[in-house]
Formats: sequence, C-alpha cells, structure tokens
Amino acid sequence: MAKSKIKSKNGFRKFWRLGLEEFNTGMFDINPDGELIVREGNYQYNIFDIVKKYGTSTEIVFPTIIENRVRDLIETFTAYIKVLGYRGKFFYHYAMKANQTKEFVLPAVAEGANLDVASANELYLVKRMIEQEKFNAKIRVICNGPKTEKYISLIEELKGKGLVVIPIIEDYHELERMTKFKGEVGIRVNLDIKVQSHWDKKFNRFGFTEEELLKIGKVRNLSTLHYHISKQIENIQGFIQPLKRTLALYAQLKEKNPQLDTLDIGGGAGIPFEKKKHFYSGKSLVSQIVRTAKNESDRLGIKHPNLIVEWGSYVAAPAQITIYKILTEKPVGNKGGFSWYVVDGSFMNDLIDTWAIHQKWHVVPVNHLNTRRLEKVWLAGSSCDSDDKYTAGGDYIPLPRLDEAEELYVALLDTGAYQDALASHHCLLSSPAKLIAQNGEIKIARRREQPEEVGKMFGW
Ligand SMILES: Cc1ncc(COP(=O)(O)O)c(C=O)c1O
Repeated sequence: MAKSKIKSKNGFRKFWRLGLEEFNTGMFDINPDGELIVREGNYQYNIFDIVKKYGTSTEIVFPTIIENRVRDLIETFTAYIKVLGYRGKFFYHYAMKANQTKEFVLPAVAEGANLDVASANELYLVKRMIEQEKFNAKIRVICNGPKTEKYISLIEELKGKGLVVIPIIEDYHELERMTKFKGEVGIRVNLDIKVQSHWDKKFNRFGFTEEELLKIGKVRNLSTLHYHISKQIENIQGFIQPLKRTLALYAQLKEKNPQLDTLDIGGGAGIPFEKKKHFYSGKSLVSQIVRTAKNESDRLGIKHPNLIVEWGSYVAAPAQITIYKILTEKPVGNKGGFSWYVVDGSFMNDLIDTWAIHQKWHVVPVNHLNTRRLEKVWLAGSSCDSDDKYTAGGDYIPLPRLDEAEELYVALLDTGAYQDALASHHCLLSSPAKLIAQNGEIKIARRREQPEEVGKMFGW
C-alpha cells in the first residue's frame, strides 16, 4: 500500500507526521534504526529501548511539553495584549479535569498557570499543595462544577487562608447559597449558540440563560462572567462568535455590577489529534481572541475586561503517549486485506474516549518506522468485549507487517487529556504503567497493576 509515498528518511518522517510543529510532533523523530525518538532540548529518549526495559502497556508523560505549552500560551497572550493595546490582563487557568496527575499539574503551575477545578476533591488537591507550601499564595483558583456543601466549605476555608478562590455560580440554588460568601464570585452563562466541534451537545445543563442573567441583574461581589461552549472546537469562528455574544451580555450586566471586570471564556481549544488536515494554531487563535475582545469592547464603549482561558486539552493532550505491544494478528472477517492487530492493553479501559466519543488518535510504530511494507490494520484491545477496538473511524491504520518484525510496538499520540481519570477496569485488565521522561531520565510514576491490586479494588 503506502509503499510509493515513502522515499527517503525525510519521507518516513513526513509519512508518520513526525517532527512537525503544526501537528505538535516537533519533538518526535526517527533514528537510523527506524525507532521512535523524542527530543527534549539535547536530551533524547529512545521509546523502543524504554518499552523494552519497562514493558507495556505503558504511558509516557513529557512534563517539558506541558511547561512549553503553558509558557508559550501565556507569552502569546501577553504579547498580543501589548501589541494590540488591549488594556485588560490575561490569566491562564489550567483545567485540572483534563489531567489531575501530579506530573501534569505541577509543571503547569511552575510555568505560571492558575487553576480551574471542577469538584471538592480537585480543590482538596489544591489545599494539599498549599499546605506543602508548593504554591505562591497569589495563585488564583476558579471553581466550576456543581457546588456541594463540602465543596463550598472548602472554598470558604481556602478563601480564609488568603487564596483567590472564585466560585462560578451555575444555578439558582448556588446563587442563593453564595450570598453568604465573602469573596468575589463568577457566574456562568449558558449561551444559546452552537459551534462546530466534535463534542457539541444538544442540551447544556450548566449556567443561566442570557434572559435569566439579565433578569437576575445584580449579583453580590460579581467579578467574572464565564461560559464554556464546547471541547475541541473545530475552527476559530467557534471562539469568536460566542465571545462577541458574551461581550454584549457583559456590557449589560456591568451596568448593574460595576465591579464586573473579567470574562472567562472556558476551555475548548482543539489540538490536531488526527494530523491530517491543517488545524488552527494557538498563535492565530490567541491573536483573534484578543483582537475581537478589543474591537467589541471599544464598539460597546466598555473598559477592556480581563481575560481568562481554561484550556485543558490544549496543554495536557500532547504531553503523553500510550504504547502497546502487538500480541497477534487476525484477519478481519469480512473485510478482505485488513488485519486486526491485538494489543496488550485496552481502548475501553486505557483510552476510553475511543469507545465513548469515537475519539481518533494518531498511531505510529515505535520500531520499524522505516519499512516500506505496510498493512491496513484495525487495532483490537485485550478485553473480551467486541467494542474494545480502534478502527480510525472505520478507515484503517497503516502499520508495519508483522512478518517483517520480530516484535512490534505502537504509540498513540496526544493521550494526555481526560483518559487517566476516566480509565476503568473492564475484564479487570491492569492499567498501563506510567513513566515520566524529564531531564534525560525515566521515572516510574505508577507501576503496572498486579492482580492483587486489581482484585483489592473489587473487594478481594
Ligand atoms: C468549565 C470547563 N472549563 C474548561 C474545560 C476544559 O476544556 P478543554 O479540555 O476542551 O480545554 C472544561 C471541559 O469540560 C469545562 O467543562
């Protein structure tokens, strides 16, 4: 199949979409032996050697990628704010729900990220970090998600300790309860707008409608108007349209709430998971957001609001890869020329979005990257569930032929967002090991689970 397309070393790199900044694979390359390598400055990780040493299934986290993306995001916003003469400030809040693992949160915080939490338990992690004096007390925390009493008392406790904690009011019950809260609050609008995104929902149950907000009018200590429109928004227009609409609402709300000074535009920045078509860059997205905020605010005659983004996937997804070994090959029954490659892990367990929302991934071999003899493949997980599979949406995945390879490993890129907290134990398979690659060293953050550990989770 793809034989004629691959002509040179560069051709292999291009074919597998490696070494390309626009696809977030700038750090990836192929060594002369056809093995996948990842570079961090002048450090270099040979992924094939790593998985042979530590086994599979395995996730590898690259904290440097998180650091670079957070730093770059903050610098880009700051630069456009300056160049365009925008007079509001910018705050980046890492959406912890994208990945709460310590190895994700701490590098983001180290580069200046504030946080966005979604539950009492996520906020509890913030409390732990504060108690361990790991935080500059100036860090700001946005609190989204339904507010249980436990969640609210933790918000109050941390506010009492001097932290800037901003609960986002999402319904009438919270509106009433938050009249007792002493600090600044935010409120969420449920915009009646649909944008192009793979995960857009027909109904959104968070926040107030625009009419409701205007009817509510004055909200005690209101500093922030917030919305979150969707995830993996497909084009820049999907950011601009809601931004314009919310700025108009912001201007109206500000008449009754003069202390309102911040617009929080939520998450949704997409990443090029598939690495096929051209995707908007972070830079062009940021420039258009700042430009629109400025032009619209000027048109409405309001002071430029401070801007918050809560981009989670944008920072977390590219920072992790998941690696499986191919165990065996089987023909795909009624689809001639296709093979199942069975992996030593599970899509339903380890990469649950494959099953839940038909997430697509970019799959590359870890070894034999320089072979011209490829096969059309679908990947099958090791649980005994027929839904445990990855077929690239019914298309195919090109992978080296097994008769050429003594052993073959494959890496799925961009697996850093959401998959860890959603992971499960269907058929009681063990979760992958988690390795951290930083400063040229590999550390084990989580060993592959042993049968006793998995049994224990189920009361054995
Ligand atoms: C309120 C809120 N903010 C931020 C995010 C992060 O979204 P993303 O990962 O698309 O950036 C989410 C995700 O569901 C969310 O619900």
